[in-house]
Amino acid sequence: MNSKKYSLADFYDIDDMDMMDRAKFFYEYLEDIHKNHHSQYRRISLNGSGPMMSIFDPYTGIEKEMIYMASNDYLNLTRHPRTIQAGRSALEKYGTGAGSVPLLGGTLDIHIDLEKRVAAFKGCESSIIYTNGFGSNCGSIAALLRENDVAILDMLVHASIIDGCKGTHMEYFRHNNMNSLEKVLQKCKDKFRTKLVIVDGVYSMDGDISHLDKIVELAHRYGAYVMVDEAHATGVIGKNGRGTPEHFNIEGKVDIVAGTFSKALGVVGGFVAGKNEIIEYLHYYSRPYMFSTAQTPQTAASLIEAMNVIEDEPELRMKLWKNINYFRENLLSLGFNMGNSQTAIFPVIIGNDVKVREVCREMHEAGIYVNPVQYPAVSRKLSRVRMSIMCNHTKEHLDRVLDVLEHLGKKYDIVNRPKVKVEDVEIA
Ligand SMILES: Cc1ncc(COP(=O)(O)O)c(C=O)c1O
Repeated sequence: MNSKKYSLADFYDIDDMDMMDRAKFFYEYLEDIHKNHHSQYRRISLNGSGPMMSIFDPYTGIEKEMIYMASNDYLNLTRHPRTIQAGRSALEKYGTGAGSVPLLGGTLDIHIDLEKRVAAFKGCESSIIYTNGFGSNCGSIAALLRENDVAILDMLVHASIIDGCKGTHMEYFRHNNMNSLEKVLQKCKDKFRTKLVIVDGVYSMDGDISHLDKIVELAHRYGAYVMVDEAHATGVIGKNGRGTPEHFNIEGKVDIVAGTFSKALGVVGGFVAGKNEIIEYLHYYSRPYMFSTAQTPQTAASLIEAMNVIEDEPELRMKLWKNINYFRENLLSLGFNMGNSQTAIFPVIIGNDVKVREVCREMHEAGIYVNPVQYPAVSRKLSRVRMSIMCNHTKEHLDRVLDVLEHLGKKYDIVNRPKVKVEDVEIA
């Protein structure tokens, strides 16, 4: 097996093999990938999330200290004394788990406090809490949309949204493109009962912000509802870190505001916020909520405190933005293709899987933790190195990353490349 001849996508697309044969074939590929030091997945962290991370280096067998450029923990609230203390107190008071599903005894008073805190933070009437963000998107959409309905998706929405739409009609529009959205809305106008436009507030692989103000206006004009996934926007954009609706000054106008608790809030879980009626319906009909044990009490307590910290300590967000602006300006001046990144997520688009792996290997060796992103996470022609930054990365950390990237940019001829044509971008 020569893994350089294959990419992850090749194993995804195999339809004509028995499951065991397919797994064996993939296993051979993985073995060769490991031999070439090309696997940067599932590296084992020894100290958790922070600007520096100690990992167990599979290639040398020893501990390695790295600049961690891959966390979604943008404000490093995973390590904030207040979020830690809140979790610790809840652990003492309630024990380690909720003991049951939320409908049948697992709802604690602290879960209700969290539902109310999320609703207030997002400017919505109420909210429902899930144990993970994937389940909250997938399970809420599946409960709301039926066969005669249509989900109208930005082509770059997160996989959890696409999976949630499998029981309904799906239509895609070109990324953040209002003409394309309008065409789809026109086509769907009289054909479907419920029409729900779904977008991400901040796109997870590209770091750009959706044109949510225009999307809401356009969708409502065509009688469609709008749902936004605020996973990477919460705590990062908006004057008070409340996310995309706040950023565009349209709080209260988006029909469904969803998101995860696992990024800037630094814990785990997901939420959907909106009108009382919709949220109450989800409490009774959304399967990952109904049939899954409620969130741990310490998670709920840390999350409430995380929202308090975001409101009380805006300086964390200011520091994050100072880092974002510094890093973006410097990456651009080096000539990297960063798409339209506007937030803490920085893609270095390369469009060649082997080069992506080589660059990630070299960065790993230089002590910098970044992630390779390939199909199906992104379109094949847009495979990339994905980096993200935190408020407590120092200038020295960022300068070191920029120095290494400058060297690799020349070595692998990945700077100042022509942009990929929009027709070549597939739905991954
Ligand atoms: C945009 C987006 N939505 C949803 C999710 C799923 O969230 P979680 O990791 O909390 O399950 C992710 C996670 O990676 C994401 O990037």
